Amino acid sequence: MNDRSPVFVGNWKMNKNASQTRSFVEAFLPLAAQLPPSVGIAIAPPFTALAAAAAALGSGNRVALAAQTMSEFAEGAYTGEIAASMLAEFNVAYVILGHSERRLYQHESDATIGAKVRAALAAEITPILAVGESLEVREAGNAVAHVLGQIRSATGDLSEEQAARMVLAYEPIWAIGTGKNCDRESAQEIARAVRAARKGFADIPILYGGSMKPENAAGYMEMPDIDGGLVGGASLDAGSFAALIAGAIAR
Ligand code: PGA
Repeated sequence: MNDRSPVFVGNWKMNKNASQTRSFVEAFLPLAAQLPPSVGIAIAPPFTALAAAAAALGSGNRVALAAQTMSEFAEGAYTGEIAASMLAEFNVAYVILGHSERRLYQHESDATIGAKVRAALAAEITPILAVGESLEVREAGNAVAHVLGQIRSATGDLSEEQAARMVLAYEPIWAIGTGKNCDRESAQEIARAVRAARKGFADIPILYGGSMKPENAAGYMEMPDIDGGLVGGASLDAGSFAALIAGAIAR
């Protein structure tokens, strides 16, 4: 894809086993079928539910699969890791990289995240690069500089053509899972800076993430540089995720 059609990705984090995933997909597919085909929709279940999700989604491609992370290595002695080629077996179209929870709990550095981005692009899986600042950084007035630094280190050595195959997600850390979403003007300010950050980003989808809900999604979509959402909590229920997408694009 990688034009600026709307895209919504449900980041389930460490929620839902295989049978819960099957139930979600059964409830969600009929709702997704009512949404305009121009809207991209993906769900990111845990690795152990990818096979169940792929089977339940069937041959229809209305809802794509995403992974929540992957290894930067192709194969080998990396206990516990999952390679891009293993995701490709399940038709995984997207992989979220650099989520703030991975940066925090798994100590992923910008350099590692950059290597993962390159590995995803090489495997033709679209990287969704997540960036965002802490409350301290925002209050110090350094949010834009912080996000641009994250982007520079993760994408600095990509060609323009490679950069144009990415999706970016702006997720202020203080807004994730807190119910305290970022006001849309501040999100737009960052999204504009992200779009201008490097060659190749002019037409990529830029998503907002952080307590996006059915009630606030449409407001973000009115912003000129925001093209969709990376949705955690509100994507866990089929009805709420479908309502969020429907509300976001109804303008
Ligand atoms: P949230 O999570 O929607 O629950 O705030 C978003 C994310 O972390 O991707």
